[in-house]
Amino acid sequence: MHIIDGIKIAEEIEKKVRKEAEGKKIKIATIVVGESKESILFAKLKEKAFKRVGFDYETIYFEEAKQSKIENEVKKMNDDVKITGINIQLPLPKKLNYINLVKKIDAKKDIEGMNPCNIGNTLLGNENIVPCTPKAILKIIEHENIKLQGKNVVIINHSNIVGKPLAMLMLNRNATVSVCHVFTKNLMEYTKKADLLITATGIKWLIKGQYVKEGVIIIDAGIKEQDGKIYGDVHESAAKKSSRITPVPGGVGPVTIASVLENAIMSYKMLGKNS
Ligand SMILES: NC(=O)c1ccc[n+]([C@@H]2O[C@H](COP(=O)([O-])OP(=O)(O)OC[C@H]3O[C@@H](n4cnc5c(N)ncnc54)[C@H](OP(=O)(O)O)[C@@H]3O)[C@@H](O)[C@H]2O)c1
Repeated sequence: MHIIDGIKIAEEIEKKVRKEAEGKKIKIATIVVGESKESILFAKLKEKAFKRVGFDYETIYFEEAKQSKIENEVKKMNDDVKITGINIQLPLPKKLNYINLVKKIDAKKDIEGMNPCNIGNTLLGNENIVPCTPKAILKIIEHENIKLQGKNVVIINHSNIVGKPLAMLMLNRNATVSVCHVFTKNLMEYTKKADLLITATGIKWLIKGQYVKEGVIIIDAGIKEQDGKIYGDVHESAAKKSSRITPVPGGVGPVTIASVLENAIMSYKMLGKNS
């Protein structure tokens, strides 16, 4: 079993981004709403990454806010010529509608790739600004030289930010894709057929040995914090049967942050800025 080193892949991407960012005035604005520990932690991790590659950045924290107030903030960020990328940190408080917020972001500044224009382009195979976690998973697959054409790819997650855009990326590369979720009857029937299993449920050790075939490649994007430790979706008994697997932590997570950085460069270019 080969353990895929997400930290190393992220460092390689970061190195390229740092070089590309030289001499460019890139500024990322982030909106964080509420007091979710996760949300604040992710925003801080991104800030550190922006700093490492030489981006300017600002993070605006709202303790609590109405949808209209955040939408106004997004509008101001769209109009600010110094800001080249915008992101709204997830998770958001439940009463806010994320999709309606990203719709308001100028598609060229949408570094999370979640504006309907960017998602639509991704569906059509014009992968300009691609949602970050699916992009990270693709980066890992490419880094490992895994060919997708004709492969049975099973994705366990059908959220807007992970499973749905990821399925598009896989279809764009001629994989045969199954997308599973809580309503899937007999999950194991699908997972056992997977050449490549990508799971992102956040259910600790959901995937056990009997769920997978010998030699499967596994990408585990699940994150579950329990008693101060981070767990993925995949149990050791399944990991042992895999030919390669991403660890949790140190797998998809760091590459997701590196993908945000790449998207920020793409936004900058799409705005027509060259210096
Ligand atoms: N590593 C990274 O960079 C990264 C980035 C984003 C998210 N994540 C992690 O990925 C996980 C999912 O994130 P998300 O934002 O997509 O959350 P989400 O919307 O809650 O997605 C969870 C997905 O898993 C499915 N699911 C849950 N329990 C299942 C089960 N027992 N059997 C089959 N499917 C099941 C859900 O199906 P239903 O929709 O039908 O409920 C849903 O599609 C979380 O652990 C999150 O922390 C990691």
